[in-house]
Amino acid sequence: MFNTRRQFLKAASAGGIGLLTPLGFSGIANAAESASRFKNPLGIPPLETGSFINGKRVINLSLGYGSSTFLGDRPTATAGINGDYLGPVIRVQQGDDVVLKVTNRLSEPSTLHWHGLNLPAAMDGGPHQAISPGETWDAAFKILQRACTQWYHSHMYHRTGIQVYYGLAGLFYIDDEHSNGLGLPSTYGVDDIPLVLQDRSFNQDGSLRYLSSMHDRMMGMMGQVMLVNGTAFTNFKVQKRLTRLRILNGSNARIYNLEFGDQREFLQIATDGGLLERPVLLRNIVLAPGERAEILIEFTPGDDVMLRHRPLGPAAATMGMMGNMMAANDRPFSIMRFDAAQSSSTLQQAPTQLIAPRSWSLNEAKRTRRFELNMQMGMGMMRGGGFGINGKPMDMNRIDQRVPLGDIEIWEIINRSPMAHPFHIHDTQFRIIDRNGRAPGAGEQGLKDTVLVYPREKVRIITQFENYADAKTPYMFHCHILEHEDAGMMGQFVVVA
Ligand code: C2O
Ligand code: CU
Ligand code: CU
Repeated sequence: MFNTRRQFLKAASAGGIGLLTPLGFSGIANAAESASRFKNPLGIPPLETGSFINGKRVINLSLGYGSSTFLGDRPTATAGINGDYLGPVIRVQQGDDVVLKVTNRLSEPSTLHWHGLNLPAAMDGGPHQAISPGETWDAAFKILQRACTQWYHSHMYHRTGIQVYYGLAGLFYIDDEHSNGLGLPSTYGVDDIPLVLQDRSFNQDGSLRYLSSMHDRMMGMMGQVMLVNGTAFTNFKVQKRLTRLRILNGSNARIYNLEFGDQREFLQIATDGGLLERPVLLRNIVLAPGERAEILIEFTPGDDVMLRHRPLGPAAATMGMMGNMMAANDRPFSIMRFDAAQSSSTLQQAPTQLIAPRSWSLNEAKRTRRFELNMQMGMGMMRGGGFGINGKPMDMNRIDQRVPLGDIEIWEIINRSPMAHPFHIHDTQFRIIDRNGRAPGAGEQGLKDTVLVYPREKVRIITQFENYADAKTPYMFHCHILEHEDAGMMGQFVVVA
């Protein structure tokens, strides 16, 4: 058993395992499927606030192997942080000096990257901060950002996809006094609920199935079963009428267009980088891998409603031939169930005003950089996809961009490939200026660190790289479809004083 666990990461990438169906479900649960199947209580990750040692908040994190039972009777070999699958919700305060002590108890090197955080490059946990088996790496930095929902995950060079797939990821909350005073639902696990959305595929024996086809490598790994916080077919028993959901798309490649089964309205209150200026009323929200959103949803006692994915339709139609292929495969499916039979009857009011998120004006920008996302079809596909940015695949020894500390910059991201790519920048939060010249929707008019760029789209963002410079240690920018990142759709930049 021990030996199997030690070897599973390697074994799982070997691929070539046949298609499965008779697991008790033949694919992702479709929308018509009866809600009664969704009865597993939602797992709520433990909170990890660390302990204060000499004025610093010290948090111990240990990467290790685990065993999980997603499918009832069949155990699945997984990996986790301080547990069997995924990690705790790390919770810190703005202004804290934190020390994250990361110990690698796996049999292969790994890293933990703090996605969305403004921090020194050497503390970023990217491919240059690999932790050897048995070693401990200390990430020490000050929390400068305002309240937001960030996350952390493995960023091992060429191994990010598989390590995250097995479970090396978790949420990272930052609190501040202003947001604590807004009257938002904020009792963790009661009316302030984390939702880590992931899709996974399994072999007959219950083991995870990763990259078994060329399709998985090109389009990114998409699973057949939805997990929420590591629970399949889950049902959350709603306790309060006004509930806050902090949603992370923690999937390797799947893009969700989320809506409730009865298409009820909800309020988006936060984007990747924190609270919006005011709540935005929506019926659906698109989240690409790496993106987060916080929403407020109102339940009536007795409600029983599914959260589901609705095919993107019009957006996919712009994707040409491959778009049509993808659209044909993009069926509606259920993600989880909210059962409000036992919820309390008093309704808390949602605030109407939140914060003023940071913004920059176009005429402050010192320069524009261009990033063209490359994915070669046809012969390039046979040779491994030709994944790159500006014509080059990722190279650990090449610095692609040098950004002067404090400069305001426009980054232009161009997608001429046939599929959508979520573009992510380390160290900073940005604002989206426009998509093909059009202002983004209200739900994207906040701070972002990841933006979905559709085929034939040019997205312009504006940002400022602040607080930390290090000419020798790079940060990454990349596609957050992890198989694309691993295949080379990533580049490096340094911030220079
Ligand atoms: Cu979510 Cu380079 O990371
Ligand atoms: Cu990141
Ligand atoms: Cu991509």
